[in-house]
Amino acid sequence: MTQTTHKIILDTDPGIDDAMAIFFAFQASEIDVLGLTTVFGNVPADMAAKNGLSLVELANLDIPVCKGAAMPHVGPESSYAHFVHGDDGFGNINHPAPKGELDPRSSAQFIVEMARKHPGEITLVAVGPLSNLALALKLEPELPALIKAVNIMGGSAFAPGNVTPVAEANIWNDAHAADIVFSASWPINMFGLDVTYDLPFPPDFTASLAARNPVLGGFVQKAAEFYTTFYSQGRDDKVCYFHDAFPLAYMIDPSLFEMTEGQLRVGTDPLHKGQTSFAPLGSTSSELWLNQPIIKVATKVDHPRLTKLFIDTYAIKR
Ligand code: RIB
Ligand code: CA
Repeated sequence: MTQTTHKIILDTDPGIDDAMAIFFAFQASEIDVLGLTTVFGNVPADMAAKNGLSLVELANLDIPVCKGAAMPHVGPESSYAHFVHGDDGFGNINHPAPKGELDPRSSAQFIVEMARKHPGEITLVAVGPLSNLALALKLEPELPALIKAVNIMGGSAFAPGNVTPVAEANIWNDAHAADIVFSASWPINMFGLDVTYDLPFPPDFTASLAARNPVLGGFVQKAAEFYTTFYSQGRDDKVCYFHDAFPLAYMIDPSLFEMTEGQLRVGTDPLHKGQTSFAPLGSTSSELWLNQPIIKVATKVDHPRLTKLFIDTYAIKR
């Protein structure tokens, strides 16, 4: 049987769950990572780019890492999530600085160049604010025709937000960019808090990654200590969440998820900033939704099979 290999560009704001997802993508034989495009979000843009380089070097790979947007489309500089990801974005583990150089192209330029080079072949996997994707759409308005799909970690269809009662962090960080991206005519698969918060991972899970893969899994286990402390506040047990790996898992095995089709609007006014209001197909007669492209949203996930996929993929020897 021939295996399909998915060409992707991973757009990321590393970040601890970003690191876990990036290594998962590197380890998966079904996924060919053409490059990392970085963006502000969990950390400032310079740190996101440097962290992307560090992760590529730790995995002993030689792929482009680009620096991207440092600011949202509209409004002031972000406040960042150091309280979740540590001062360094990696849980304050004193990881050495990278030795390599960033690619000279901006994240948006890289996305456009690669899309023109491989028309119809690339899936953009976006696990940070959607600023780079919106900038790429401005650079190349025909981009949707050149891209195979856009798999997003962000938003929430039915679950509450994690920054405000209605907004998830990636969408909240650049709501205007998200509005542009969700209104463009490309196939979007959204993996939001409906599924990512449905699956808490105990410390045993990162211990399993480390046991299977001491370098990459060991890094994730160490970095996740700080992250776990944040997510375990107010609970009796210790847990953390690996949001960003979900859209990648879908590429390897779509049967892990139940997907619901519908139309989505992103709020940009102060009260609803970053809110992703989702109307399943047939549920509304409002033109405000009906004029939007139809997207797919993950509404259910198979916990044991997804957990096994993460652990088994980390175990693959490269
Ligand atoms: O809300 C979770 C998302 O916000 C993840 O992508 C995390 O890395 C942060 O960027
Ligand atoms: Ca992220």
